[in-house]
Amino acid sequence: MTTDPIRVGVLFSMTGVTSTIGRSQLQGTLLAIDEINAAGGILGREVIPVAYDTQSTPAVYAELAERLILQDRVNVIFGCYMSSSRKAVLPIVEKWNKLLFYPTIYEGFEFSSNIIYTGAAPNQNSVQLAEFMTANFGARVYLVGSDYIFPYESNRIMGELVLQRQGSDKVGERYVPLNATEADYAPIFDDIRDKQPDFIFSTVVGDSAAAFYRAYADAGLNPRQMPIASLTTSEAEIGQMGNDVAAGHFTAAPYFQSIQSPANLQCLERFRRMFGNDAVPNMCWEAAYFQVHLFANAFAKAGDDEIVRILPHILGSELDAPQGRIRVDANNHHTCLYPRIGVANSRGQFTIVREATRAVHPDPYLVTHSLGDWTTTLNALEL
Ligand code: ACM
Repeated sequence: MTTDPIRVGVLFSMTGVTSTIGRSQLQGTLLAIDEINAAGGILGREVIPVAYDTQSTPAVYAELAERLILQDRVNVIFGCYMSSSRKAVLPIVEKWNKLLFYPTIYEGFEFSSNIIYTGAAPNQNSVQLAEFMTANFGARVYLVGSDYIFPYESNRIMGELVLQRQGSDKVGERYVPLNATEADYAPIFDDIRDKQPDFIFSTVVGDSAAAFYRAYADAGLNPRQMPIASLTTSEAEIGQMGNDVAAGHFTAAPYFQSIQSPANLQCLERFRRMFGNDAVPNMCWEAAYFQVHLFANAFAKAGDDEIVRILPHILGSELDAPQGRIRVDANNHHTCLYPRIGVANSRGQFTIVREATRAVHPDPYLVTHSLGDWTTTLNALEL
């Protein structure tokens, strides 16, 4: 039996507008690889990451994905943050019949037999957030997003979800460039002050999220009356904007650093030993971490990472992740996850105000979209 190392591709952005979250995803990936190698590798074979900087640019993702496949000869790639980058890599992995593990929350409405989706789909964060925000603050929402596919689609979904509430109204919808600064947001906050929504739904990503929350603070608005709700603002973005700026705003995610389970606390301890205290675990870090273990477990059963042999062992597989026990759905390639809602506190962490007691089945096409589905949709799950 071969003892050759197993090379895997890793595509996250070390530079550009999404490099803060990209670095954390790389660190989550490397932590899992380190754990696997420390335990003897996969079937005695060392896992070697081949990582490139994708520069927060979809065309660079596509070029490097093809390089990983054709020159570095990898069968599996872990990577992508912005949906625009996943859309760029999708045709490459389909063309060469390779596998992409995508560890990021996204807008749903996609399926590729060459992708495993380990971040939240809209029925695992948006429906819960819509219920929570409309019940606690009201149903008049103002939507602000970065100018690309995830914000357009997520805003459409949020706009439709709040319609289920009496008195709902989409009072504004604005888009800003990915490199937006505080000055770009000033006219938007003038409009927000005029329209007085009950809450603001932000689908602003990357560095410009910090500028958005700072502009909110500069506008003198009060999170107790008109908070920002987000699907992407994590501990990493809070680190960029400052704890005081983030405090009082809400995020829906399957994972927060503040989860008190032994599995999470032990994982954080191992992570700190490897990367120190400046590294910032977050929802995308956790998915990047656990998806490598899903891969390793499947490889150990398949003996190989050629897609035809490894995929049957990934689909339906389960794992004790830091967020809880998760499972890859065999039909839609998305993952059963635990919706949670957190409010940012003065320590730069999230105080969890609501959480699912069972994993919620992924429904990426939002077949079931009743507000606040904290249980399961489709098949019953007993994880
Ligand atoms: C994203 O673009 N899926 C955050």
